[in-house]
Amino acid sequence: MSIGSLLLVNAAHPYRLQGPGPALTALEPESSVLLCQPAARALARLLDAVGGRQALVPVSGWRSHREQSLLYAQSVEENGPAFTAQYVAKPGCSEHETGLAIDMGLRLPEIDFIRPSFPDEGVCRAFRRQGARFGFILRYPQGKEAVTGIAWEPWHFRYVGTPHAQIMEERGLVLEEYIDFLRSFARQAPFQCRQQGRLVSIFHWPGSQPPEDLDLQAWEIASTNAGGWICTRVEP
Ligand code: DAL
Ligand code: ZN
Repeated sequence: MSIGSLLLVNAAHPYRLQGPGPALTALEPESSVLLCQPAARALARLLDAVGGRQALVPVSGWRSHREQSLLYAQSVEENGPAFTAQYVAKPGCSEHETGLAIDMGLRLPEIDFIRPSFPDEGVCRAFRRQGARFGFILRYPQGKEAVTGIAWEPWHFRYVGTPHAQIMEERGLVLEEYIDFLRSFARQAPFQCRQQGRLVSIFHWPGSQPPEDLDLQAWEIASTNAGGWICTRVEP
């Protein structure tokens, strides 16, 4: 079973990597920007859907723990601790270490690695608006800074997969809030909604181990990294 795409990684929930880590894939043949496979495939489809392959560039995807540590230390030195606390997660607390996060930027002669340009217009707006259909959410929106602990980052997208991205967007929930919301839906009474006409059922399973008796042909199980599992079924 894969660990899934709903890992909550933030200052309160460090990424506790067990085993060999995510299976990563390059976004383009020559690219050093890596993402876990489902996210990379979905990103390619999203870029094609918005015609963004020329205008947009994946700036930063998976980062090793060491890379995040170096980035953090370098930012503290160059930009100071206040800026760094807003825009760079502490090593171990960055979702870039999961391979599920991607910073996108306009393809400009100079690209800021920490804060790439991603204006709310043109192809960038189309990318953000269509992202949920492909499983991507804007992870650090304006107005949710107190919940995420991170400043508004219009360039940082997180793959949570479908149907979760659409549900989060429809309800205006960031990942912290979405996992809290799902906690109140137990196996006997799952959260249900329709996405693209198909019935979706989702429940939260507390505990360190996932449920053993679910039909894995029908259900997808994802770790929250916050003391539980999210089980999802989309009617065929
Ligand atoms: N920029 C985000 C918060 C990170 O460093 O993971
Ligand atoms: Zn990022």
